Amino acid sequence: MAQDRVNNPDWADHPSLVQGDAPAPAVPPRAPSVPAPFAHQAEADFSELLDFYRIPWLYEPTSFAIEWDGDAVTEMFTPDFYLPDQDLYVELTTMKQSLVTKKNRKVRLLRELYPELHIKLLYRRDYQQLVAQYGYGALEITELRPEDIDRILVSPAELHERVVALGEQISHDYADRTVILVGVLKGVTFFLADLARTITRPLAIDYLAVAGYGTPAKGRSRQPGAVRIIKDLDEEIVGQHVILVEDVVNTGLSLAYILKHLKAKKPASIAVVTLLDKGDKRLVDVPLDYIGFPCPNEFVIGYGLDYRERYRNLSFLCVLKPEAYEQTAPLRPREDVLMSETARK
Ligand code: IMP
Ligand code: MG
Repeated sequence: MAQDRVNNPDWADHPSLVQGDAPAPAVPPRAPSVPAPFAHQAEADFSELLDFYRIPWLYEPTSFAIEWDGDAVTEMFTPDFYLPDQDLYVELTTMKQSLVTKKNRKVRLLRELYPELHIKLLYRRDYQQLVAQYGYGALEITELRPEDIDRILVSPAELHERVVALGEQISHDYADRTVILVGVLKGVTFFLADLARTITRPLAIDYLAVAGYGTPAKGRSRQPGAVRIIKDLDEEIVGQHVILVEDVVNTGLSLAYILKHLKAKKPASIAVVTLLDKGDKRLVDVPLDYIGFPCPNEFVIGYGLDYRERYRNLSFLCVLKPEAYEQTAPLRPREDVLMSETARK
């Protein structure tokens, strides 16, 4: 096993706190640019993401015995992160999907042996999705060609049908109430506009916007500090029935932050409706009252959802081919892109 780690440059495993007779694992070589204590850049990036959302974390705090020979421990497993507030272990792997079998086995063993323990495994694909979502290390795609589309996930007709059903359900549930729809900019704009027109109750609309991790600040590609509201509600919501409208709930980090912010304004109630639910990848527990569609663990564009501000105006939801994201081009700050667009006009 130690041999594999040395031979496989993709291996993102880490030294364990070895006890008893367990074999000493090889410490994977750390690239000089990877900040301590991390063994891999993906972990350093993930820790920054957690810091941004003020999620406390510990790096490799615990090793678990997962295999024994008689009384002697022969294999240990040390998850990368522990999030004490969520009581959740997170294991990142940047290995190619085809090479994760071993890691899967370890996580499965861990779950079997320690059933009370919560662990999430984030694959290379999840990591690429986070990278795409948060917009760094990303590439520039200027035009969508049909061959860039991997598949259409939800057609315009399916979107219409589902949005009407959600509107009917909400109208029924709020039969004797007026509501305030609060949209989270900008991905939600199309969904909110369509949903609002199917709700047969008096309603007000308000918006808020959150500076996400990776929101470019002037002259730099990433915003330091913590998640924050960059546009707050225009109106008071105290004593009102609020329906928060989201485009995608993935890790739940954005939504958890927004819900806390809204609850402090003392509304009578808050429900959440999301167009897409990537339930698999939840890191923090968030209540979802209405879900448009469960969403596979892939980066989705269209119907308001963007990739680097593009493709929002597609009338369907689709997934691009991985190559469309993977061809690496140097990251350009968004202002540069916008400026060059203006210059072209
Ligand atoms: P979370 O904080 O990880 O739950 O991320 C939620 C936010 O990330 C959403 O409100 C979206 O703005 C963005 N997001 C997540 N997945 C996608 C996607 O597949 N396409 C476009 N945006 C996404
Ligand atoms: Mg959003």
